[in-house]
Amino acid sequence: MRINPASLFALAGAATVSALPAQNQGDSGGSDNPSCRFVFEWSQEMVLNNPDGFINDLLYWEGQFHQNNVSYNTENGMSYDGTQLDWVTGQRTEKHTFSAASKEALQIMLYTHAIAGSAQAARFLTPNHPEAAPDFVVSILELKLQTYLQFNESYPGFGGFLPWFTSSTQTISPVWNWVNQVPGLDNGELLWAVYGCIQALENTGNSRYLQLAKAWQNWLDYAKSNVAKVFYQGDGHVCSVTNIGNQTWTTIDPRQTYQCQDNGYLDDPYEGELFTFFVQFFGGLSDEDINQIWQAKAPQLVKKEYHMGNVGPITVQEGYWFSSHETWKVMELPYYDVDLISRLYENAERVRTCNSVVTKVPGMFASVNNSTDPATNEIISYISNAGIPSVSNQTSQYLQVITPYSTFPTILFNKPVGLAWLRNMLLGKKMQNLYGSTESTRIDGTLVSALVTWDSKVSTVNAILGGVTQWVRQKMQADGIYEEFIQYATRAYSSVFTELQGENVDFCLPDEGITDANLEDFTWCN
Ligand SMILES: *[C@@H]1O[C@H](CO)[C@@H](O)[C@H](O)[C@H]1NC(C)=O
Ligand SMILES: *[C@@H]1O[C@H](CO)[C@@H](O)[C@H](O)[C@H]1NC(C)=O
Ligand SMILES: *[C@@H]1O[C@H](CO)[C@@H](O)[C@H](O)[C@H]1NC(C)=O
Ligand SMILES: *[C@@H]1O[C@H](CO)[C@@H](O)[C@H](O)[C@H]1NC(C)=O
Ligand SMILES: *[C@@H]1O[C@H](CO)[C@@H](O)[C@H](O)[C@H]1NC(C)=O
Ligand SMILES: *[C@@H]1O[C@H](CO)[C@@H](O)[C@H](O)[C@H]1NC(C)=O
Repeated sequence: MRINPASLFALAGAATVSALPAQNQGDSGGSDNPSCRFVFEWSQEMVLNNPDGFINDLLYWEGQFHQNNVSYNTENGMSYDGTQLDWVTGQRTEKHTFSAASKEALQIMLYTHAIAGSAQAARFLTPNHPEAAPDFVVSILELKLQTYLQFNESYPGFGGFLPWFTSSTQTISPVWNWVNQVPGLDNGELLWAVYGCIQALENTGNSRYLQLAKAWQNWLDYAKSNVAKVFYQGDGHVCSVTNIGNQTWTTIDPRQTYQCQDNGYLDDPYEGELFTFFVQFFGGLSDEDINQIWQAKAPQLVKKEYHMGNVGPITVQEGYWFSSHETWKVMELPYYDVDLISRLYENAERVRTCNSVVTKVPGMFASVNNSTDPATNEIISYISNAGIPSVSNQTSQYLQVITPYSTFPTILFNKPVGLAWLRNMLLGKKMQNLYGSTESTRIDGTLVSALVTWDSKVSTVNAILGGVTQWVRQKMQADGIYEEFIQYATRAYSSVFTELQGENVDFCLPDEGITDANLEDFTWCN
């Protein structure tokens, strides 16, 4: 199984089968013990009328992913990238023994909701004991922090940041092709997730939780103290990936060095911006440096008008590929507090949903793992270039594979419509398994990716829960950086966007089904 390079956005990402027939629970909808293939019990109309009921069933099964040796390691609290599934039965086969900061971010965002007492997070985590969810995740976060601190002791050269790592051993270590290297983008996702989580812990007032908040704050402060040293090269250049002189030397060792790999700079206006803001707020840079960073970023923020069939014009931010993954930043930083940005991103979901209707696609696109080759049980490769070519910088795209998690940015604006698209993809053969939704399917229905990962599942779950901006905002206000965030985000977007077209267009609902090419559902889920 190959490991993704941390290229810009290319990370971009023991159940028992319920024999019980699903029982409808009246108005709250959904069932206590939904069947593995519960999607067949929901018409599109039912989902639109009762999204919470559908969510109740969905979270139960997505939550089966949250198990030792499937998505995380109970011994050290660390995420695993995911697990491959048997092509016929859907039983777990090869565990991905590695992970990255981006997956850690999704895990911590989910836990933040549990700490704050979310019943939906508890439905995912501890469906039989919802009241136990907060303590459950706090135990994992205590263990996880110990593992981070141990990693820092063994590999102080990382300065607290994480590379792609192996997490199947008690103490984690860089995977072989990330020795002496560390990516910015994924760490930006992780750092703000930890930031929000600290606030949620503090809000409880519980002494054990407060102690944990303090310990994580200490780790975060350590990362802050190193961020410029490890990632900032001067002249507005933040490294995409930093080459470390020697990962076992401390950051202050006189022999230590930090260099941007291949002169690659993090200047994208998408999810990489999470890291940019972290550098800006906590890197101790001069105003001059910060202005240079934003000058370097400015050319990538581009206006596009979507036009296809009888839809459009609709004004959107140009995508790199227009993969849903690119929208990740809005789940963590409170971008939608800026009215212009919120309206612009709502337009993006008009485009995402309606483009699939106009082009007769039964789902939506996002960077995702390609299908499994049933002969070898190997995943064929990773498809970075999946989105909407007409509103993207990169127009050469592979548009044969759709993925459930493409719905997460739609869900942030409109749950019923986003879930209707999700349902439409789950109807495909093999698109549900013992761990919830399956990674991806071909539109022609001939193959699926028999894989379960944090990226393709928990991004959607976090969107259903509403992202973590409420806690991040609260802490930014307390830290006195909220106004500056709003100012920079507003300035960047309002210099490119003034009038938006297409705001009267309705989101579109799916109109096509995945072709039935006679695949068999996973036998352990039917
Ligand atoms: C695809 O596979 C890679 C490597 O296993 C994983 O990191 C990623 O989460 C998977 N899914 C997506 C949507 O990126
Ligand atoms: C989990 O995986 C480890 C190896 O990574 C193995 O030693 C252990 O037995 C597994 N545990 C379960 C419950 O399958
Ligand atoms: C990480 O390791 C360095 C070097 O040993 C140490 O100075 C620092 O305090 C550690 N950070 C944390 C958060 O423990
Ligand atoms: C890194 O440092 C360790 C400890 O000083 C040393 O054993 C190792 O050879 C160094 N590696 C390189 C590539 O210099
Ligand atoms: C995805 O897999 C299909 C085979 O199912 C292959 O033909 C195609 O080239 C792959 N696409 C990419 C981008 O890897
Ligand atoms: C894509 O972005 C790069 C970097 O900003 C730019 O130079 C190039 O012209 C863009 N291409 C298109 C087709 O927009």
